[in-house]
Amino acid sequence: MAWKTTKDPQFAGLSQYDLQALFASLPSPAYVIDEERLRANGAVLSALAERTGCKVLLAQKAFSNYDFYPILAPCLAGTEASGLYEARLGKEEMPGKEVHVFCGAYRADEFEELLQYADHIVFNSIHQLKAFGPRGREAGKSLGLRINPEKSTQEDHAIYDPCAPGSRMGVTRDVWDREMDGDTLALLDGLHFHTLCEQNSDDLRTTLDAVEEKFGDILPGMKWLNMGGGHHITRPDYDLATLEECIRHAQEKWNVTVYLEPGEAVALNAGYFVSRVLDVVENGGTKIAILDASAACHMPDVLEMPYQPPILGADTQPGEGHPFRLAGPTCLAGDVVGDYAFAAELQVGDQVLFGDMAIYTTCKNNTFNGMPLPDIWKLDEGGNLHRLTRFGYPDFKMRLGSRER
Ligand SMILES: Cc1ncc(COP(=O)(O)O)c(C=O)c1O
Repeated sequence: MAWKTTKDPQFAGLSQYDLQALFASLPSPAYVIDEERLRANGAVLSALAERTGCKVLLAQKAFSNYDFYPILAPCLAGTEASGLYEARLGKEEMPGKEVHVFCGAYRADEFEELLQYADHIVFNSIHQLKAFGPRGREAGKSLGLRINPEKSTQEDHAIYDPCAPGSRMGVTRDVWDREMDGDTLALLDGLHFHTLCEQNSDDLRTTLDAVEEKFGDILPGMKWLNMGGGHHITRPDYDLATLEECIRHAQEKWNVTVYLEPGEAVALNAGYFVSRVLDVVENGGTKIAILDASAACHMPDVLEMPYQPPILGADTQPGEGHPFRLAGPTCLAGDVVGDYAFAAELQVGDQVLFGDMAIYTTCKNNTFNGMPLPDIWKLDEGGNLHRLTRFGYPDFKMRLGSRER
């Protein structure tokens, strides 16, 4: 199958290359991270920070390929972590930059070590703030509490909605009023909310209105307000002006430093996943191409979210063209990437190139069924590919038992 270059944002980073030549010798499957696209995203974020005075952090849960941190570091204030290991990674690999951590619940046996890495520590409950806050304060950390403004702005993905009824994420005003006391409030430097997922700034405005309605009396006593992630800032249709209004509103009304901690927006459309067709089977008129790549193992959000990833040269809406269902080689019947229409019949050996594969992939993959971890490659700004990892059987085995490798 011949690939044509495309202006689709997911593949725009490849438009200047002869893709057959670029990827022909790449072992399959493989993740490829595009240095030039990362730099372009970083430039959008650093310009935003410069214009508004807000601080932008990389949420490492989405993208933590630290070989690229030197490119991102000049554009960002630091990293955001979900716990001890990511905090340590941020401290080690983005030296001199801020390390922020938010965790659903901290462990007593990890907290001392966490203090070595984190600058800002955000708690999810008033109990945890009471339990760990005094030690954090003694160690000179800036402490925050995650609030829940109870304003859902997304309909499709309940799994990604921290404001869904019964959510464990953040303190509601009702709980705040029951549990907060003066000494505990005095520990706090800031508030944090995270409510969005791949959303535009109109939803941020709706959320900020709810934050103001519920916590507007608390904010003047705070030094900072962290507006979380889920802001799709580097997407072509993102409304930057409304985001900037929200940031300025918070700065002016409450005199706070505003933090944003996007993950996706930092590495949006900055990665590809190269796979090959191993076999083509047919069932009741449906042609199914079995790849050497798995949705379950290598792009788990395809099943978890769920969503259908873009493929170069194929339509996600089967219509004109040759319809194929793409699936993985694992035992899971539902290891299906989706139904596509290709310009030509897929053949065994054809390469299939997925787009927007830098985020929530390499940091979330697994070796279910003994599937190998695909290697990670760098596409540099001169169009050269460099292998960053060399995964193999030992990486599968070491997670399962005690025998020396
Ligand atoms: C607390 C927090 N901050 C930041 C993020 C990053 O979100 P995104 O990658 O959608 O920008 C998440 C994602 O779940 C999160 O839970």
